Amino acid sequence: MGKKRLVSGVRPNGLLHIGHLGGMLTNTANLQDQYECYPFIADWHALTDAIDTSNLPEYTLQVAIDWLSAGIDPEKSKLFVQSHVPEHAELSTLLAMVTPVSWLERCPTYKDKVQNIEQREGPSTGLLEYPVLMTSDVIIYKAEAVPVGTDQVAHLEISREIVRRFNHRFGNVFPEPHPLLTEASALPGLDGRKMSKSYNNTIELSDPPETAQKKIMQMLTDPGRVRRTDRGNPDVCPVFAYHKTYNSDEVPQIDQDCRSASIGCVDCKRNLGNKLIAKLTPFYEKRAKWASKPNDVREVLADGASRARKVAQETMAEVRSAMNLA
Ligand code: TRP
Ligand code: SF4
Repeated sequence: MGKKRLVSGVRPNGLLHIGHLGGMLTNTANLQDQYECYPFIADWHALTDAIDTSNLPEYTLQVAIDWLSAGIDPEKSKLFVQSHVPEHAELSTLLAMVTPVSWLERCPTYKDKVQNIEQREGPSTGLLEYPVLMTSDVIIYKAEAVPVGTDQVAHLEISREIVRRFNHRFGNVFPEPHPLLTEASALPGLDGRKMSKSYNNTIELSDPPETAQKKIMQMLTDPGRVRRTDRGNPDVCPVFAYHKTYNSDEVPQIDQDCRSASIGCVDCKRNLGNKLIAKLTPFYEKRAKWASKPNDVREVLADGASRARKVAQETMAEVRSAMNLA
């Protein structure tokens, strides 16, 4: 037997930010030797939020560039776009036949979304079936490992239930997938809230380094520190949280200097900006290279899809035969 397989999906709902790099992207890139990896861009899943598809081609391209710049090796791994492997949809349809609606209605992410939904008609069937399609994404490659944040664990629980039911009814076709918990990004947004595009508090991976520096200079700090002579409390300062990630060596010193008011916030932020840019320089360099050759990126995606598709088609032949559809 070869290596175990890993599937890792990112939705192209917008431009990715530095939280994605420290979480999903780098984690998957680091696992490329240990696993046979299928990093992909979940464009169908993006449609569960946004029906406006005008930006989808651009976002899909940008996410692909981010995957590659984070270190995904297009030879080692199969990097592809979900909709380029239509077998995912075929399997999703079949899995839906063994998935009770009640499992999906109970899913916490679904319940959350339904509460915030604007459409008069209520949630779409696509949103309800989100975990079924996600299950298909994973098990069509018989993958056992799925690097995810804690917000996706409930989805994978449903995946395992679907697999158990399918296997029970039709024979042992699929292994059960398990989450590889990526350590939750400790990085808050620029304003100290959760990092999220909707709060407009992110540094995009496609931001030029100067923009990243500018955004850092505008970060909120300890709200209790009003004057330069006030002592600060780094524990409530988002700038300090960023130092922990991008400038860990200096953390004890900054902690001390902040509490004693020996450094000012402006210098503290400038220092952070420099360290962050230095740390991300290898990423920025690769990104500039890939971004200047979008057609190479598209070629990588086409090749990834054709290699992934071969595997997916083998699984589908097995599935159809197990279900007497052959
Ligand atoms: N639901 C995932 C997210 O929002 C994206 C995703 C879709 C995914 N299919 C997947 C992740 C399969 C891992 C495996 O982050
Ligand atoms: Fe935050 Fe640094 Fe200012 Fe302290 S000195 S409050 S850590 S920005």
